[in-house]
Amino acid sequence: MSNNLLAGKKGIIFGALDEKSIAWKTALKCHEQGAQIVLTNAPVALRMGEINKLAEAINAPVIGADVTNMDDLKKLFEEAQAHFGGKIDFVLHSIGMSLNVRKGKHYTEMNYEWNQKTLDISAMSLHRVLRTAWDMDALNDWGSVVALSYIAAQRVFPDYNEMADAKALLESVARSFGYHYGVKRKVRVNTISQSPTRTTAGSGVKGFDSFVDYAEKMSPLGNASAEDCANYCVTLFSDMTRFVTMQNLFHDGGFSFTGVSQAIVEGMGGE
Ligand code: NAI
Repeated sequence: MSNNLLAGKKGIIFGALDEKSIAWKTALKCHEQGAQIVLTNAPVALRMGEINKLAEAINAPVIGADVTNMDDLKKLFEEAQAHFGGKIDFVLHSIGMSLNVRKGKHYTEMNYEWNQKTLDISAMSLHRVLRTAWDMDALNDWGSVVALSYIAAQRVFPDYNEMADAKALLESVARSFGYHYGVKRKVRVNTISQSPTRTTAGSGVKGFDSFVDYAEKMSPLGNASAEDCANYCVTLFSDMTRFVTMQNLFHDGGFSFTGVSQAIVEGMGGE
């Protein structure tokens, strides 16, 4: 169902790998709500070819960009503006990758070179994207930028490893750049802290299925789905949330503020 919440708006969506991706679902919802989209992902991800299905469905061009490469980002913003015939209203940063997790290194034994790459891809990349837009003055006034985070930024989930630090940095960049972009152009920058969700990035975390089940039992509303996350992104890109900025917004069915739930107590043999 469309309310045309994004009629006339133009956005760049990073991170649609396959149809499970949060970015994929968000692109579909934004299109449904009347937005025009440019899709982007790392060249290696584009080689999978999946994204072309999405591109066709929403009539969006695909422009490759490694989010750690400033030349790629500059080219992306130039081409996107040429395609739209003007500036950009919203950006979704839906990117995460941990080299230490991928290579099976425990947090206490991390390889620092890999850690640098993880922080660059998963957190400083938001700064790179905002900086590129800032230097080119590519975002319209009252534009909206959203990045995706996880509650391991605030609380310990041991197997989340170095990504916990990456998410804490990501949320900090959203706050800090959000200040400057707010002053300069009324652009808002927020992170959404999403429930564990079965996607390619999510499933890379050790013990992920138990994670999902535990969060499901701990959340009064249950886990938020990728599709619901996409709906939340739409509201943040819309003019209905113009004064929300520099926030980390929990989209987790109440998980973050629940101490313990009846389902968990019963699971431990209690009443
Ligand atoms: P996904 O695997 O579908 O998306 C991750 C994306 O990052 C992929 O499209 C990948 O190609 C892209 N990427 C990796 N390196 C890149 C680079 N150098 N340049 C450009 N793009 C690059 O997984 P998902 O779950 O949709 O992840 C999206 C975001 O949501 C991530 O930030 C993730 O940490 C976050 N998130 C995911 C949760 C989950 O349980 N799945 C929970 C909370 C947050």
